[in-house]
Amino acid sequence: MSKSPKNVTDPKLRAKNHQDGDPNTTGHVWDGIEEFDNPMPRWWLWSFYACIVWALLYSIAYPAWPMLTRATPGLLGASTRADVAVDIQTFVDRNAPMRAALEAADLAAIPTDPELVSFANNAGAAVYRTWCAQCHGSGAAGVQASGYPNLLDDDWLWGGDMESIHYTISHGIRNTTDEDARLSEMPRFGVDELLEKAQIDEVVQHVRAISGQDHDATLAAAGAGVFAENCTGCHMEDGSGNRDLGAPNLTDAIWLYGGDVASLQHTVIYSRAGAMPNWNTRLSEADIRAVATYVHGLGGGE
Ligand code: HEC
Ligand code: HEC
Repeated sequence: MSKSPKNVTDPKLRAKNHQDGDPNTTGHVWDGIEEFDNPMPRWWLWSFYACIVWALLYSIAYPAWPMLTRATPGLLGASTRADVAVDIQTFVDRNAPMRAALEAADLAAIPTDPELVSFANNAGAAVYRTWCAQCHGSGAAGVQASGYPNLLDDDWLWGGDMESIHYTISHGIRNTTDEDARLSEMPRFGVDELLEKAQIDEVVQHVRAISGQDHDATLAAAGAGVFAENCTGCHMEDGSGNRDLGAPNLTDAIWLYGGDVASLQHTVIYSRAGAMPNWNTRLSEADIRAVATYVHGLGGGE
C-alpha cells in the first residue's frame, strides 16, 4: 500500500497509460493488464482490525483453542454442557413430586387418577419411544405376525390389567437375566417327534377351523383329537388360551406369528418362544409405572 497514491514515486510502478492523478501500480502485469495500488477503504480496514481484536478477546473469554485433552476453558467458564445439566436437573426437580406420587400409588388405582395418568402418559410415551418402539413398533401396533405383540388391542398374552402389564415389563419374558421373568415353553412337536407329520397337518387344520378360517374339514375333525390330547393343557379346550402360561388365544383373528398354514406348521413343528428383556434393571420404577400406564391406556387396558 502506498501512502500517497496520487503521487507516483517509483518510475517502475508508473502505469503505461499513466494519466495525471493515477496512483502507482502494484507492478503486476497480466496479459498487458496492470493493477493500480489503491489502498483498502478505511471503513473496511477498521472493521477487519476490529474483527481480529474481537476474535482474540473471544478466544480468551470462551472455550476456544483445542489442546491435547480438551479445549482451553475460557475465563468466563461458559459451558453448554453444564447449562444442559442444569436444565435437566430443573426438569428432574420439577417432576420429582409427581414421580414420587406415581411410585407410591396403588398400581390398579393409577388409571383412575387423571393427574397421574396425564403425567404418566407423557413420561411413558417418551420411555416407549426410546425403549420399546424398536420391537413393538412406533405406533405400538406391533409388527404383524413377527412375534412382537400388538399392544394397542385388547388381546393379551400375559394379561392386560395394570398389575400384569407392570409385571411383564419389569421382569420380561423368557429372558435369562431375570429369575422372575415370565416363563412357559410350548413343546417342539415336530423337532422332538412328539407328533407325526400327519398329526401336525391335522392339528393345524383344526386351528384353522377354530379361528374361523378356510380348512379341510376331514383333517380338522381328526385334528380335534390331536388338539385335545396335546394342546389343551396350555391353550384350553376351546383354544381361548391361558394367560398364566402366555399361551395365545387361537380362536381370534389376532396372530403373534401368523395364522396361515405355513406359519402354523412352523409354530407347531419348531415352537417359538418369543423373549423380552426385563426392564427393572434399566428403567426406574417410576418409568416402568409410567410406560405401563401408557400401554394400559393405549386401548386394550383391562
Ligand atoms: C427386544 C424386543 C423387545 C423390546 C425392546 C420390548 N419388548 Fe415387549 N415384548 C417383546 C416380545 C417378543 C413379546 C412377546 C413375548 C411372548 O411371546 O410372550 C413382548 C411382550 C410384551 C408385553 C406383553 C403383551 C401381552 O399381550 O401380554 C408387554 C406389555 C410389553 N412387551 C411391553 C413392552 C414395553 C413397555 C417395552 C419397553 C419398555 C417393551 N415391551 C420392549 C419384545 C420386546
Ligand atoms: C406347554 C404349553 C403349550 C402347549 C402344550 C402348546 N402350546 Fe402353543 N403356545 C404356547 C405358548 C406359550 C405360545 C406363545 C409362544 C410365544 O409367545 O413365543 C404358543 C403359541 C402357539 C401358536 C402361535 C399363535 C399365534 O398367535 O401366532 C400356535 C398356533 C400354537 N401355539 C398352537 C399349538 C398347538 C396346535 C399345540 C398342540 C399341538 C400347542 N400349541 C401346544 C404354549 C403351548
